[in-house]
Amino acid sequence: MQPQFIVTIDGPAGTGKTSVAQCLAQRLGTACLDSGSMYRAVALLSLQRGVDPDDGPGLAGMTESVGIRFDWDQSPPRLLLGGEDVGDRIRDMDVSAIVSIVAKQPEVRQVLVRQQQQIARDHPCLVSEGRDQGSVVFPDATVHFFLEADDAERTRRRVSQLAEFGKKADPVEVQDDIARRDHIDSTRSVGPLVCPVDAVVIDTSDRTIDEVVTLMEMEVLARTGGT
Ligand code: DC
Repeated sequence: MQPQFIVTIDGPAGTGKTSVAQCLAQRLGTACLDSGSMYRAVALLSLQRGVDPDDGPGLAGMTESVGIRFDWDQSPPRLLLGGEDVGDRIRDMDVSAIVSIVAKQPEVRQVLVRQQQQIARDHPCLVSEGRDQGSVVFPDATVHFFLEADDAERTRRRVSQLAEFGKKADPVEVQDDIARRDHIDSTRSVGPLVCPVDAVVIDTSDRTIDEVVTLMEMEVLARTGGT
């Protein structure tokens, strides 16, 4: 394995990015960045401080002054907002309901993209997942993956992911939330959800996490000359 490589995993909500990224990072022995958790932290700030989710400059300034960091000693790394572990609060429906609006703000994206690139400098072996990690943040990554899955499966996964966080969710509400976020994420002017041109596309609908991760691991090892 080469001492320095970045693997990006892009794709819409519910395609398994977070679970797959954590598992792949564990197998490869790299750090793992859940970039969506950073946008969720800014959405939480917006709720806590009563700042309009459309106020990009206000939220960007507040994000820089409060500070988002990760505790890399935990697995998966825990997000610290102003030094406080936010736990699973960032997965609540009130945060999910506004996160795409927050993520649409160019000023917010500028701040978070810069922080993500700094994280990669601090962690030269990195698996990074999110909507724009391959297309915008790390265009020169060693491997770009793009995950897809059909809508029913994405909803089922999101409901069970929420259940794992101890949150009961109505599947219809979850499906509507996914569709609404897909639309906002794909049509925003900065960093829209797109498949990077050279990405390896994997449909995860009928594959287990383990199967997807094995496919990815083989691809990464082939590209990095590992065995
Ligand atoms: O992956 P997730 O559901 O935790 O992401 C939360 C939101 O953050 C999602 O609606 C889109 C946004 N996001 C983004 O715009 N860019 C990223 N790199 C990651 C997430």
